[in-house]
Amino acid sequence: MKRAAFLLILPCLPLGAGETVLGAYIFHRHGSRTSKSYPPVQLTPLGASESRSSGAWYRNRYVSGNASAKIHGFSPDTVTLSQLSVLSPMDDILQNSAQAFLQGLYPPVGKAASSEQSSTEDVVNGLLDGYQYIPVNTVGMSTTGVQGEDNMRLQTGSGCPNAIKSTERYLESSEYLQNLKDTMNFYQRLLPVYDKTFPAEKASFEHAYGIYDLVHVSTALNDTKISHTELLTAEVQHQLYTLASAHEWGLAFNSSEPVRAMVGSILAGQIVQGLNATLRAPLKTNSTNRLTIQFGAYASFMSFFGLSQATAASEDFYGIVDYDSSFVIELVTDAEVDSLSSSADTINADDAYIRFLFANGTASETNQPKPFPLFGQQEIRLKWNTFIEEMSKFSITDTAEWCVACGATEGVCSGAGSSDVSTAKADSGGMSNVVAGVIGAVVTLAVATLLAALAVGIGGLRLVKKKAPRLSMAIAPKTSRDDMSYEERV
Ligand SMILES: *[C@@H]1O[C@H](CO)[C@@H](O)[C@H](O)[C@H]1NC(C)=O
Ligand SMILES: *[C@@H]1O[C@H](CO)[C@@H](O)[C@H](O)[C@H]1NC(C)=O
Ligand SMILES: *[C@@H]1O[C@H](CO)[C@@H](O)[C@H](O)[C@H]1NC(C)=O
Ligand SMILES: *[C@@H]1O[C@H](CO)[C@@H](O)[C@H](O)[C@H]1NC(C)=O
Ligand SMILES: *[C@@H]1O[C@H](CO)[C@@H](O)[C@H](O)[C@H]1NC(C)=O
Ligand SMILES: *[C@@H]1O[C@H](CO)[C@@H](O)[C@H](O)[C@H]1NC(C)=O
Repeated sequence: MKRAAFLLILPCLPLGAGETVLGAYIFHRHGSRTSKSYPPVQLTPLGASESRSSGAWYRNRYVSGNASAKIHGFSPDTVTLSQLSVLSPMDDILQNSAQAFLQGLYPPVGKAASSEQSSTEDVVNGLLDGYQYIPVNTVGMSTTGVQGEDNMRLQTGSGCPNAIKSTERYLESSEYLQNLKDTMNFYQRLLPVYDKTFPAEKASFEHAYGIYDLVHVSTALNDTKISHTELLTAEVQHQLYTLASAHEWGLAFNSSEPVRAMVGSILAGQIVQGLNATLRAPLKTNSTNRLTIQFGAYASFMSFFGLSQATAASEDFYGIVDYDSSFVIELVTDAEVDSLSSSADTINADDAYIRFLFANGTASETNQPKPFPLFGQQEIRLKWNTFIEEMSKFSITDTAEWCVACGATEGVCSGAGSSDVSTAKADSGGMSNVVAGVIGAVVTLAVATLLAALAVGIGGLRLVKKKAPRLSMAIAPKTSRDDMSYEERV
């Protein structure tokens, strides 16, 4: 069995001949967790182990001495902290997944390698068999200290007003209202499964994600939070997933209102800034960040997939990604890096390319991240300059831009148009952090203020199989605990 699986493995995304990897930016979801319906939500042991496996896969691709796509000059066994940046919002599940991932990326080095001769002539061994301590930076906190206050204000404050309004409009759209009506019978028929948690008045498309999450987690854990599982045929489970995906996609992205996907714009800005810094730094130095691993929510994947048109490459991108999913953007070059002699030499941007890979679920030998073209293009390997051009259509990299797009005038935006904002921009070591904090704020507030809706819109969400005939039941959607904050939408 194992052997057969092994033989089926595709070649590990071989690099082009003469290609060198300069750096990479990974965006990662957390591993398996408990259900959101029963807080506090926790990463399960399986979840931790999944994230560690994913880290081990990436180690095998980019880090270790024999890595298949080794990042040039990257420290193979003992971490060099300046080469690596790990980011995660203030969220227990994401933080813990990040730590588990890092255990796979840089496993303990062992007693011998981690011991030192102290001045007292005793040998001091590293803890936990040479465990490698790698900080997981919390987005929303300034690394410079300069903008700390503003960052916090932005994160807990008013968020991005225009994104919130746009998200609210989803709940007034004809797609949403149509789905709500068409699926009422479907959700009500399943009441015996979840009525302890989602009683009749909550069993509707309004709670599509919460219901899917409860069922999905409870079936995986075989727990008693649900009953009458005989009603959960494969088709029903698929329908729950599909409806939840449609609901979450509607909140995350709308092509005619890009501001709804603000979290994706901010992520795009972070990716551009991260990879650009790698590209522009002299190659022969240890002090450059070459690999960023950012943890985030499924909603951020959706916003980014919408903006970058991953959906043009595969309709699968409309779906909620599995636990522990990741995408990576690799920065590569064909230039002769070994011929760079001066320690100040950098790679010419014209010689640089990027490649986008995505793994649905834990990256592994049998579930390798696969390349997809972005931006509705054909090529998998895209010229750096084209990538920048495309990303700049929707990425947000500075505070002033963010304030304008969001229609925000408070907090960090209170000086919009004045020198305050340009200062914020100039000190932009902290900018990506300011903005990263917004990833939390936007979604929190957008979703926390969800309103019931009457208005009519136009447009079409595919994905949803229109199923049951409608049920004669008046429903007045309300805000409720299922209107999840960002922390809950991970
Ligand atoms: C590198 O070596 C390790 C340990 O021997 C092995 O498990 C791994 O598969 C190798 N990686 C590649 C890409 O060959
Ligand atoms: C997307 O935005 C357009 C224009 O505002 C609107 O007509 C449409 O209903 C929206 N779709 C969703 C799903 O919100
Ligand atoms: C699930 O739980 C039921 C009842 O507690 C038990 O009979 C069954 O064996 C369990 N299945 C698994 C796969 O653990
Ligand atoms: C990339 O970095 C260079 C040099 O620091 C800068 O001039 C350029 O504007 C940056 N490009 C982008 C797209 O951020
Ligand atoms: C980079 O760091 C490694 C160990 O972390 C060291 O062996 C190497 O000499 C350093 N290279 C430079 C150019 O500083
Ligand atoms: C991820 O896997 C799920 C099934 O587990 C699937 O429905 C979804 O479309 C997949 N998404 C992508 C982007 O491949």
